[in-house]
Amino acid sequence: MDISSTALSRLGEVPRTPHLRELFSTDPERAERYVVTAGDLRIDFSKQRIDDVIFSALVEAARTGGVEERRDAMFAGEHINVTEDRAVMHVALRAPRNVEMIVDGADVVPDVHAVLDQMGVFAERVRADERIAHVVNIGIGGSDLGPAMASRALAAFGHERMRFSFVSNVDGADIASVLAGSDPAATLFIVASKTFGTIETLTNARTARAWLVEELGEEAVSDHFVAVSTNAERVAEFGINTDNMFGFWDWVGGRYSVDSAIGLSLMIAIGPIGFREFLDGFRVIDEHFLSAPLAENAPVILAMLGIWNANVLGFDTKAVLPYAQELARFPAYLQQLDMESNGKSVKLDGSLVDVKTGPIVWGEPGTNGQHAFYQLIHQGTRIVPVDFIGFATPHNELRYHQDLLVANLIAQSEALAFGRKSLPGEPYRNFEGNRPNTVILADELTPSVLGQLIALYEHVVHVQGTMWGIDSYDQWGVELGKELANKVTPELTGEPTPDAHDPSTNALIAWYRTHRK
Ligand code: F6P
Repeated sequence: MDISSTALSRLGEVPRTPHLRELFSTDPERAERYVVTAGDLRIDFSKQRIDDVIFSALVEAARTGGVEERRDAMFAGEHINVTEDRAVMHVALRAPRNVEMIVDGADVVPDVHAVLDQMGVFAERVRADERIAHVVNIGIGGSDLGPAMASRALAAFGHERMRFSFVSNVDGADIASVLAGSDPAATLFIVASKTFGTIETLTNARTARAWLVEELGEEAVSDHFVAVSTNAERVAEFGINTDNMFGFWDWVGGRYSVDSAIGLSLMIAIGPIGFREFLDGFRVIDEHFLSAPLAENAPVILAMLGIWNANVLGFDTKAVLPYAQELARFPAYLQQLDMESNGKSVKLDGSLVDVKTGPIVWGEPGTNGQHAFYQLIHQGTRIVPVDFIGFATPHNELRYHQDLLVANLIAQSEALAFGRKSLPGEPYRNFEGNRPNTVILADELTPSVLGQLIALYEHVVHVQGTMWGIDSYDQWGVELGKELANKVTPELTGEPTPDAHDPSTNALIAWYRTHRK
């Protein structure tokens, strides 16, 4: 058994806690003791099903599981993405100019800042250009979810004249609806793709290019298209001048790239200064992750609580419920971050994992979720650990709405933990409680606070991947579907190739060929 398995199996022997009601009545101080502060984030994990014995065991498991070593290996630029033989250095993207971060023998921070400077000049030019009113980011996965989520989250800090759209789905409905409301002369397209080989993005980009050329002619392309990619050759092949390209590096995973040039649309929206504040927010948590002792280290604590919930208590999913409409896309963003990183069943040494890995992550903004799926969270047979996220100050004048919103967040946290006993004869009114939840609060959703939140979850995912002994930075699981889609595509329209697949797949293809108009 390797170190992470040994550390995990020891946790199974630690006694479970009584009901949270009892935990709080015998130990009210847990409400203060189980709160950790990281940057501007106040993280209250007192309503998790732990006591001091469990907490110490979790910290000890992190220590013996090699969390510090692997964290340091990441920051040192080691090739911890073993299956792709790459460094994992998204933490260099937010490093200040005077810090050195080495990948493969070279300091990458000057390169990072050269691109940030290039982005800054371009962003300022676009922001000042009265002709541009609409920025359309075309990308998918990490090349879409980060900027789309963050632009929405930071709308209050956005440019007052420009609007921003994000096209990702290969479903023509997505790009068609964006182009329908757009003036080509006023639109800037950012084609964002790490590989510049992703079929969805290239298809959407070709459609957008054809639309623009039809209206404004071929010579307009260089003024209206820029690319963000690691692959200059493919960018040139596509027909975008590489002078209009913003680069990044193979040591930045797609789902860890919102703070690279992939965030160009966000930088145009909030300006280079706002974007720097965003990066500085990440950095605050990076430094906390590097320096805080394990027992006070927010990403380590949250990660180990997740391990306790998933691997010891057996809770398979995790809901992230932001009480902030601006964070509407945050759960979707975290789905990729967490599930594409830790949805793995093979360990670093090639053996099969023997515990459950990444949880199913999902969520919706409160209070909408309360009127949809909270029934199951409160009274269902499955226990769903929850992360609540909320803010003291809104970006609107409707103070009373905010009070109501935050009251709901606090009430939900209380109700889940403590429940309420029903009267005899009314079992359907019983709230069992004892449902673990964490409450993350900050004063206001600023660029810095958003950076802090993202970095917090990035490092949670990293620590959990370490404990499970998996490679959190590859994504082989998306390959088979892509390959088969490439095979099926010509079969939908070309010469029929009967029996090329299993009977069900053949029948689906046949149905589509018959019904396709
Ligand atoms: O879904 C697989 C994936 O490779 C993601 O990891 C990535 O974020 C997305 O596709 C988009 O890739 P690219 O930026 O290369 O277009």
